Amino acid sequence: MVGIGLIGTGYWGKNHARNWKRMLDDGIIDKLVFCDIDEKRVKELAGDEIPYTTNYKDLLNDDEISGIDIVTPSNTHFPLGKEALIAGKDVFVEKPLTMSTKEAEELVSTAENCKKILMVGHIFRYHPGILEVKKMIEKGDFGRMHYMYTTRMAYSTPRRDMGVMYALGVHELDLYCYLLGVQYPNLAKMTKGSFLQPNIEEFASILMEFDNNISGYATESWMSPFDKKMRTLTIVGSRKSVKVDYMKHNEIYVFDGIMESRQDGNQRIPFVSEGEIRTISIPEKEPLREELCDFVNSINTRKQPLADMYSGMRAVEMVEKCLRDGFFRPDEN
Ligand SMILES: NC(=O)c1ccc[n+]([C@@H]2O[C@H](COP(=O)([O-])OP(=O)(O)OC[C@H]3O[C@@H](n4cnc5c(N)ncnc54)[C@H](O)[C@@H]3O)[C@@H](O)[C@H]2O)c1
Repeated sequence: MVGIGLIGTGYWGKNHARNWKRMLDDGIIDKLVFCDIDEKRVKELAGDEIPYTTNYKDLLNDDEISGIDIVTPSNTHFPLGKEALIAGKDVFVEKPLTMSTKEAEELVSTAENCKKILMVGHIFRYHPGILEVKKMIEKGDFGRMHYMYTTRMAYSTPRRDMGVMYALGVHELDLYCYLLGVQYPNLAKMTKGSFLQPNIEEFASILMEFDNNISGYATESWMSPFDKKMRTLTIVGSRKSVKVDYMKHNEIYVFDGIMESRQDGNQRIPFVSEGEIRTISIPEKEPLREELCDFVNSINTRKQPLADMYSGMRAVEMVEKCLRDGFFRPDEN
């Protein structure tokens, strides 16, 4: 029996609630209880079918609840997550895992000591386009991988609890490492801009360096009036290039042109071919549902999920160092 307690039914928690309700209807979970300190909000979302509470301790004291899903403001992830683990629950925490490396380390060691699952909401690991790209990387389809870049732009009121690095950049720092099968880049550098609030960056530009001269770039912004909501990842390789539009869950774009250089005497001559852009259909899946199903699978099998706590801790570590020093290097910890 898997019972789930969802804490936080705000902007993003509503999407968790919708997926959990469907998973309850589909028999993937057996019990569901919602919690939010805002009673009006949680009551409305729960409707007549789902029990709710305004006190998260009710969920921790409920023996029929085995998994706690935390979708509350990021500075509450650590205290709520730790209390839930100590209460004997498996825990899903939205990203960022915590707001500091110290907290992340303590949360991870609590999960290890309690022998509980701790998972982080690195949702893009579950995006169907990313799953396709990961397979293509593993098959060597790109030839020599040159670089990756992400444009994650929005025109929205900036958050007040964290800047774009903890809110958005955390995804790229995690995802590029995941795609390349490494724990860290050799170097991550960041520049940022704060325009509306002190100490909250509304814009950041990230550069990551990996082995074999592969680089990763990302632009993160909440102040992008011309792009509104744009979230794309492009991977450029010597034999193939791919673009994933994160807003689309059923297709990716493939460019079959060649971008390489050839030796001519003592010179390297760049060669860039014509190429076709094709749209490839992929099976449509909602990343959030895939992610929550992985949490349930971990509860049942005791195996680590794809977005495990260690990846959550490394991502926080990279964001924290980039914000503090402007760069992160794994050997300078
Ligand atoms: N993975 C993603 O793509 C994604 C997207 C958006 C937000 N998030 C993450 O989700 C989290 C929540 O963000 P949001 O935008 O939904 O925030 P929000 O402020 O809209 O919602 C948070 C909710 O938590 C409730 N809450 C706070 N403390 C509580 C407590 N102790 N007990 C019960 N309820 C409590 C609030 O009343 C509110 O309803 C953040 O950590 C954010 O980083 C992730």
